[in-house]
Amino acid sequence: MSSLFRIKPMSMLTEESRETGEHTLKRSLSALNLITLGIGAVIGAGIFTLTGQAAALHAGPAVALSFVLAGITCAFAGICYAEFASIIPIAGSAYTYGYATLGELVAWIIGWDLTLEYAFGASTVAAGWAAYFNSLMQQLGIVFPPSLTTTTGNILVKYQGIWIDKMSLPPGVSDMGLEHVTGLFNLIAVLIVLVITTILVIGIKESANFNSAIVIIKLGIVGIFLIVGGMFLFHHPDVAKANWHPFVPPADGHGNFGWGGIPVAAASIFFAYIGFDAVSTAAQEAKNPQKDMPIGILGSLVVCTILYIMVSLVLTGLVSYKTLNVAAPVALAIDATGVGWGSMLVKVGAVFGLATVMLVMLLGQTRVFYSMSRDGLLPKWASAIHPKFRTPWITTIVFGCFAAIMPAFLPIGKLAELVNIGTLLAFTIVSAGVWVLRVRSPELHRPFKTPLVPLVPILGILSAGYLMTQLERITWIVMLSWLVLGLVIYFTYSVKHSKVQKLPVAMK
Ligand code: ALA
Repeated sequence: MSSLFRIKPMSMLTEESRETGEHTLKRSLSALNLITLGIGAVIGAGIFTLTGQAAALHAGPAVALSFVLAGITCAFAGICYAEFASIIPIAGSAYTYGYATLGELVAWIIGWDLTLEYAFGASTVAAGWAAYFNSLMQQLGIVFPPSLTTTTGNILVKYQGIWIDKMSLPPGVSDMGLEHVTGLFNLIAVLIVLVITTILVIGIKESANFNSAIVIIKLGIVGIFLIVGGMFLFHHPDVAKANWHPFVPPADGHGNFGWGGIPVAAASIFFAYIGFDAVSTAAQEAKNPQKDMPIGILGSLVVCTILYIMVSLVLTGLVSYKTLNVAAPVALAIDATGVGWGSMLVKVGAVFGLATVMLVMLLGQTRVFYSMSRDGLLPKWASAIHPKFRTPWITTIVFGCFAAIMPAFLPIGKLAELVNIGTLLAFTIVSAGVWVLRVRSPELHRPFKTPLVPLVPILGILSAGYLMTQLERITWIVMLSWLVLGLVIYFTYSVKHSKVQKLPVAMK
């Protein structure tokens, strides 16, 4: 039994991090590349889509406080991630950290669990991307068959000449008499994931450049939204006052709104922060990982937290939160300023911006499976590197197809919940890992040190655990079923092929 908790020796990890040559990944990313990679992964469907839903359904303008709550949770975990990433600068993220500290079984659980974050994360963003893209196309007069633009069984209605989700009709507008269509599957979401997969197979360097360019566009759009919206509110304080009042709408008796609605919304918009940890999955491709990983992780987290709080305040100041349960809430809000080109610009920005999020999510997924396969826990094909592109191409294609299928049938809200629970679980394990490693190997060289251990890890575990309790029961059931499936694979395959299990006793 004790072999299940066998730890991957630190010497083996550092050796792997120094490997070079044909079969390894290219070291081409600088600190700035890593921050951009982080921002590229973080700002996405969370702020562009889920914030609107969370404000409309759970918290009202107080969604800004939900961002503070979720941001604090991420900060604890982010600090712990940064310590690990500086000690163990190799690909694999929380999986690798778990292997070095808590043992193989826990590492497997995290690695498997990270699929919920990365692969399903890419699927969730694809759903948001498809909504913005479709809305943009309709604005340009290009109408796809509506049944292929939404998930199975979802009802669309034609309102003012545009196909929208029936649930997104403005408050007080009835669907009676409107044309209806039932969704078959979301073909647009499927296609975009397949395009991203192709880019990833071609290579990391190209992907990083593509990412940096788009991150600039994305930050530009967020900046324009804040300036245009902020100026409008400054000149129309009466509008802001009306929309922000009451800032915490009264509780509805079903767990929404009131002070209790704030953590519920936080558990849902937590998705908006996911991705800064994906920086750690690129450690093996960083030029100077020990110094740059903490900068990449914490830098992207700080930038995003500040932007999110401002965006959510401007969003709920421009329009009533009740109208925000739509596919493109940021575009809707900028329309309210009367700036004609605003909504088009936001949609174009979201279309480009959400693409980079999918890119980093899928990149993270393939790198985790790459590491697990190199450790012998998954079959060899998962770490096969393409001779010309030097990317783990088979894993990329397999997960690309997997991530493409999910948003065809599942709605964005359900996908996001799954991603959130998977990520929060990883956060709790990483926080615990930092603490365990301090006790077990106090002598280890730590280029970046988490302050106030064990307080910060404990707060990390408690805050992530608290947000998990705010998620729906069905989400818990799916996560636990996913983990059981993972354990079956571990005990039938991985345990027999693990390289660490085969190490000489002296190294264990
Ligand atoms: N944080 C990323 C997003 O919001 C996953 O799309």
